[in-house]
Amino acid sequence: MNLLVISAILAAMVGMRFLKPSMLAWIAIWWLGMFAILEFGFAVPIPASVIKIYMGIITLSLIAYVLTDPERVEQVWNPIVAFTVEKRFQPLLVVVGLLIPCVVAWSIYADMTKSKQAPSFARTVHPAPPDQITVHDTDYPLGFADNPYRTLEASAPEEFAARVQAGRDVYYSNCLWCHGDVMAGEGMFAHALNPIPTSFEDPGTIAMLREAFLFWRIAKGAPGMPDEGGPWESAMPAWENFLSEEEMWNVILFLYDFTDYKPRAVELH
Ligand code: HEC
Repeated sequence: MNLLVISAILAAMVGMRFLKPSMLAWIAIWWLGMFAILEFGFAVPIPASVIKIYMGIITLSLIAYVLTDPERVEQVWNPIVAFTVEKRFQPLLVVVGLLIPCVVAWSIYADMTKSKQAPSFARTVHPAPPDQITVHDTDYPLGFADNPYRTLEASAPEEFAARVQAGRDVYYSNCLWCHGDVMAGEGMFAHALNPIPTSFEDPGTIAMLREAFLFWRIAKGAPGMPDEGGPWESAMPAWENFLSEEEMWNVILFLYDFTDYKPRAVELH
């Protein structure tokens, strides 16, 4: 809530009590004040359609308020009638008469010419990872940390194959929904997400990343992205909350095994 805006509008309304404006002015001030609270009073913007619904309710309540008392009806009605029939208001009446269709035409034109594209914002897809992360109480210096099971590929192929298999189970019970059954980023949830889930088949993703980078992204998910990766509305969960470290390293082995890509090697300086 934007307390400054809300208290300013409430103060203005209290102030109006002392000025005793006419009933018609009162109604207009209430209507505009409520609109200003809905439009500017909240830190998170309220959708225009919701504002329309609320303003509809407010309009109806104001009409009901006026209609409950014949005196109020007269106070609102008389100035409107005077405006339409009295000679001195005639030039103004002409202006208003022309303005109404112009405003309607303009708002229809503005609606029709709106771009259907969501506003785009720049983001770094692969920002530099932090120097070190802590996952389940283990510290990983990301410059050097590598998949602890990668060496098994040469030294113990059977154990390696079993880990890939375990990684497959992790993938198909957790990642499938977004990253898709063939890792092309076309899971059943993908269409609802922006940014879309990464396609691991794309040579610009895991093929050019180190396993430690993947471990960081999988463990910390979207909440772990540094500012340069944002504004960032990624749905990628922080898997450290659901998976063991071993499961995360295994699923990484599976990602490379399935796509036939090789992880980028650790660069020792
Ligand atoms: C709710 C949807 C969702 C699920 C489930 C999900 N992801 Fe993601 N993931 C995303 C989105 C969206 C992105 C792209 C934006 C980003 O990088 O945060 C992403 C990005 C990634 C990346 C970064 C790739 C890169 O090029 O930087 C990795 C790695 C990844 N996901 C692995 C996984 C793994 C492994 C699982 C399962 C344990 C998983 N994801 C489950 C939505 C999901």
